[in-house]
Amino acid sequence: MYIRRQQDYVWIHIVVFLCICDRSASQISYSISEEVNKGTVVGNIAKDLNLNVQELETRDLRIVSSHSKRYFDVNLRTGNIFVDERIDREELCPNVVKCLLKIQAVLNNPMAAHRIEVNILDINDNSPAFIEKTYSLNISESSLTGERYLLPIAVDADIGSNSVKTYKLSQNEHFSLDVQSGGDHGVSAELVLQKALDREKQSVITLLLTAVDGGKPAKSGSLQINVNVLDANDNIPNFSKSLYKVRVRENTPPGTVVIKLNATDLDEGINSKIMYSFIKRGNIDPSNIFDLNAETGEITVKGTLDYEETPAYEVRVQAMDQGTSPRSAHAKLLIEIIDVNDNAPVISVTSLMTPVKEDAELGTIVALVTVSDKDGGNNGVTNCKVIGSVPFKLKSNYKNDYSLVVDGPLDRENTSLYNVTVTATDEGNPPLSSFRVITVHVSDVNDNAPRFMEPVINVYVKENSPIGSVIYTINAFDPDMETNAKLTYTLLDSYPKIFQ
Ligand SMILES: *[C@@H]1O[C@H](CO)[C@@H](O)[C@H](O)[C@H]1NC(C)=O
Ligand SMILES: *[C@@H]1O[C@H](CO)[C@@H](O)[C@H](O)[C@H]1NC(C)=O
Ligand SMILES: *[C@@H]1O[C@H](CO)[C@@H](O)[C@H](O)[C@H]1NC(C)=O
Ligand SMILES: *[C@@H]1O[C@H](CO)[C@@H](O)[C@H](O)[C@H]1NC(C)=O
Ligand SMILES: *[C@@H]1O[C@H](CO)[C@@H](O)[C@H](O)[C@H]1NC(C)=O
Repeated sequence: MYIRRQQDYVWIHIVVFLCICDRSASQISYSISEEVNKGTVVGNIAKDLNLNVQELETRDLRIVSSHSKRYFDVNLRTGNIFVDERIDREELCPNVVKCLLKIQAVLNNPMAAHRIEVNILDINDNSPAFIEKTYSLNISESSLTGERYLLPIAVDADIGSNSVKTYKLSQNEHFSLDVQSGGDHGVSAELVLQKALDREKQSVITLLLTAVDGGKPAKSGSLQINVNVLDANDNIPNFSKSLYKVRVRENTPPGTVVIKLNATDLDEGINSKIMYSFIKRGNIDPSNIFDLNAETGEITVKGTLDYEETPAYEVRVQAMDQGTSPRSAHAKLLIEIIDVNDNAPVISVTSLMTPVKEDAELGTIVALVTVSDKDGGNNGVTNCKVIGSVPFKLKSNYKNDYSLVVDGPLDRENTSLYNVTVTATDEGNPPLSSFRVITVHVSDVNDNAPRFMEPVINVYVKENSPIGSVIYTINAFDPDMETNAKLTYTLLDSYPKIFQ
């Protein structure tokens, strides 16, 4: 880690101060870039010490160093001090702005030691690098534009202009980069949200952050940034249909599945978990008749479906997600009940004329018959007729209204009472029928003359019979009834009035 801290500056200042002191005691200073090739000449010691080149050998010039490595050597024939070992500034003086290598040139006859200070100059041999391999950021899709997110910094072992100078961000539509040059404190970067995120469109955004140093040529290092877009409950549930239509037979047993609702929510987790329910409206509570499974959306029969009572249900259903601020949607459900032929026709009779006179004319209305059937469609269409052979028939008045009329001669003396059976049958499959017996009494009309048993009656009377003795009882018969059958007997004038 090459993080510059406050103490480092203090230390550097002390070093610089010491150097200034040493310089007064005739010190030689050279500068050389790090990483130069071996043999690169740093300076000429003979010239700088004002020595004759021949003297170097005779006085046995040596370069000594207090470091583990010597780094430099001297060519005794020329006096050139040259690089003898690879010099890595960052290894030699980590975290230090000014890197000074101190060596000595030692001579014999007379003995003399000259301090030499070599300033190792930085070259851009290090790229900026991030410690993290990747960096993850969690950002809610509800974040507002302008929100800022601090990013990791890159480090560069080089110093000054060779260290990190700026950051760049890969091309993307959501974020921009704000780079702050903090003077001595290096450069840092923040992501700035420019365009609202949408998890439903893109849940992970991969960005590449590149740190670039100020060297020439510049070096760079990159870090992959994964932005995880966190879900917000920004989508409402969506029913697969706005109107569900279904047909169910009446009398369907409880537990039978009617329909399965389906709503989806593009959000994630509980924000997309949907609960279904009926919406109670007015005084109609669908939950009395149907069961709705809140989790699966399955609707089953619960109560009794009676077409004759309710031929159709219009129900509102709701889908609500389970987010902390839940969002909901509703749809319409139309359940049509299919009629089943479960009602037999009902015959009602209003007797108009009973008893009916035996001399009633053909077409005389005896009773009114009305047929009704609660079923719908063909299940409610009825046909009505009289069965058996009776002198009555049904005449249709209007739709299901009939008149029972006299259709033949009546004769009370033969039949005084008719049990007229009327049946009504619907057109369902299988058909249902019902019947009704209409009792018709026939009332008497004086249509029969009294009749004697025989046309001539021979009566034998004993002579000398006393006056007043019964010689014979005449009997006549009248099939009519009551007063129409009450007889009075008289003797006709044309016969001798010897009998009374
Ligand atoms: C991001 O969220 C995930 C869960 O969604 C969590 O495991 C992870 O720790 C979070 N990361 C950060 C950096 O907050
Ligand atoms: C809702 O669902 C329907 C049917 O599945 C689909 O056609 C429609 O595009 C969806 N609407 C939205 C806003 O997702
Ligand atoms: C609901 O509808 C979606 C598509 O609209 C489908 O992928 C899903 O399987 C359906 N769910 C059920 C339980 O039917
Ligand atoms: C008397 O009625 C019966 C049926 O009730 C019928 O068959 C018969 O012909 C009738 N007789 C007369 C004389 O009308
Ligand atoms: C008519 O019905 C009544 C009652 O059911 C029964 O008593 C009577 O005998 C029946 N009469 C005829 C002629 O069928």
